[in-house]
Amino acid sequence: MSSPHEVRAFAPGTVANLGPGFDLLGLAVEGTGDTVVARRVDGDGVRIATITGDGGRLPRESDRNTAAIAAAEVLRRTGVRAGVELEVHKGMPIGSGLGSSAASAAAAAFATNALLGSPLRRAELVPGCIEAEAAVAGRHADNVAPAILGGLVLVRSLEPLSLLRLPVPAELGVVVVTPRFEVSTRAAREALPADVPMGAMVRNGARLATLVSACYSGDVALLAECLFDEVVTPARAALTPGSDDVMDAALGAGALGASMSGSGPSIFALVHHPARGPAVRDAMIAAFGRAGLEATGLVSRADAPGARLL
Ligand code: HSE
Repeated sequence: MSSPHEVRAFAPGTVANLGPGFDLLGLAVEGTGDTVVARRVDGDGVRIATITGDGGRLPRESDRNTAAIAAAEVLRRTGVRAGVELEVHKGMPIGSGLGSSAASAAAAAFATNALLGSPLRRAELVPGCIEAEAAVAGRHADNVAPAILGGLVLVRSLEPLSLLRLPVPAELGVVVVTPRFEVSTRAAREALPADVPMGAMVRNGARLATLVSACYSGDVALLAECLFDEVVTPARAALTPGSDDVMDAALGAGALGASMSGSGPSIFALVHHPARGPAVRDAMIAAFGRAGLEATGLVSRADAPGARLL
């Protein structure tokens, strides 16, 4: 079977952490993500042809660009010697807490693998994307894993890599609101506490365990009760003006629960059904407005697909 000359892939934005699941849980969402076109060219290795939608801010050098690193990892892991050129079309803001670098890496890995005739299975794309993420935003898999696999993913272990897809209650909806404001994941990781009080660790552990249990039982109210995080989110709240008020506004408008999306500044909320999302979204946008930040929002089903060809 001959391989295509050019392929186009999309990977979605992702909500990482889901409250107590710091670096452990991530959820794919609909309505935001990146598109990458991969093309066979003469020569060896990966190069970036163009990037759109980044305002000229992302590095074009192959060893510093998350998409190029992820594509190169596909070549390395398959042992294929080929020249690959990438067009990266950013469909989401950088530093938004929606896994922007992960979406670029996932779309690039997916496209490059398809360009080679798909020698790697979908799950086998994740390790290379983790390397790409590590180069720009720290070693964590809770954005790249759902960006590739879709749905809700639990990162059981990074080394060796072990991922579990968790069931997502069928009707559950998610709202994500993103202010026009940037928080770098690297800076947000530097804000993390060096020590965690034993009591906070125990309570966060209880919420994480309950959250996973609620996914299996389909108890959405219980699931949403578990989104509170008292270890990581408080340490980062100061980086995002108005974040506590935005979470309160979500609850006031009928959300089941709310928390920070990844390292922020986006805030997400869970709703019984996507149909209940717009009212929650609008209340959250208004709350960011009161903190002086313009914001936009999306409403998605919680069980959204991962990377795919377009
Ligand atoms: N788990 C990561 C963090 C996600 O919170 O730093 C970053 O999007």
